[in-house]
Amino acid sequence: MSAYVQLLDAAIRDLEGRKAGGERFVVVSPDALNALAAPAPRGRRPDPVAAPIRPVTPLAVPPVRPSAARAPTAEKSAAFAELRARVLACVKCPQLVATRQSVVFGVGDLNAQLMFVGEAPGADEDRLGEPFVGAAGQLLTKIITAMGQTREAVFIANVLKCRPNQPPGELGNRKPRPDELATCLPYLREQIQLIQPRVIVALGGTAVEGLFSMSEAGITRRRGHWMDFLGIPVMPTFHPSYLLHAETHADKGLALKRQVWEDMLQVMERLALPISEKQRGYFK
Ligand code: URA
Repeated sequence: MSAYVQLLDAAIRDLEGRKAGGERFVVVSPDALNALAAPAPRGRRPDPVAAPIRPVTPLAVPPVRPSAARAPTAEKSAAFAELRARVLACVKCPQLVATRQSVVFGVGDLNAQLMFVGEAPGADEDRLGEPFVGAAGQLLTKIITAMGQTREAVFIANVLKCRPNQPPGELGNRKPRPDELATCLPYLREQIQLIQPRVIVALGGTAVEGLFSMSEAGITRRRGHWMDFLGIPVMPTFHPSYLLHAETHADKGLALKRQVWEDMLQVMERLALPISEKQRGYFK
């Protein structure tokens, strides 16, 4: 398959994913529109794309690199190292650069079949430079283990790579702003395009909002229902922090954990991972 056809397929998958996620418009630069209007190589014209096009500049999304995604490991590792270096040097959000201790790129296997995407680093992650290492991270690690997986075998990343800055004197975590999520999303897209996981788990409403450029994910309604990002199935579920907060209400906490586990069983089924009776029975 030519690079042109691969790019076209990737673009179509991307648009389908956005449409499935509720988007009805895409931002396309005049240059891209001109290129689309030009004849395709070997006389093939690109398929018309259903979504209406609103020309503005510039296109925030980086080019898809399908060749690197299917490349041998050495090439993939090099592309990943280059991306990592770019992300670690990012200064696009001055308010986050001013307060961050680390840029939290992500951790795990470059060839992972399963990828977990959270919202943003918290204080522990900012200090240690690794996603999901605090209390929520410990719960996520338990979930991964219960699925018969390890942190090393999956890939874990956030939509936003820097800790959201807090107003002076305020404790806790601030929800990432839509503009911060949008600025950082291209990095996550590149990570996904390189890793090419077979399934993505989106942890919490903010991760869904960031991935799909939505203003309100409605995670309670959406969890457990497959979505599509760049042609990759996405399972939205509750964020581990939400489960931890809910633990103080015994019944609610258990009910939420059961729902998350049901979502993970769907993920395991999709990946054709073995599921024991014991695993099926958790929370029953
Ligand atoms: N919450 C997240 O969404 N990501 C982390 O890395 C830690 C907590």
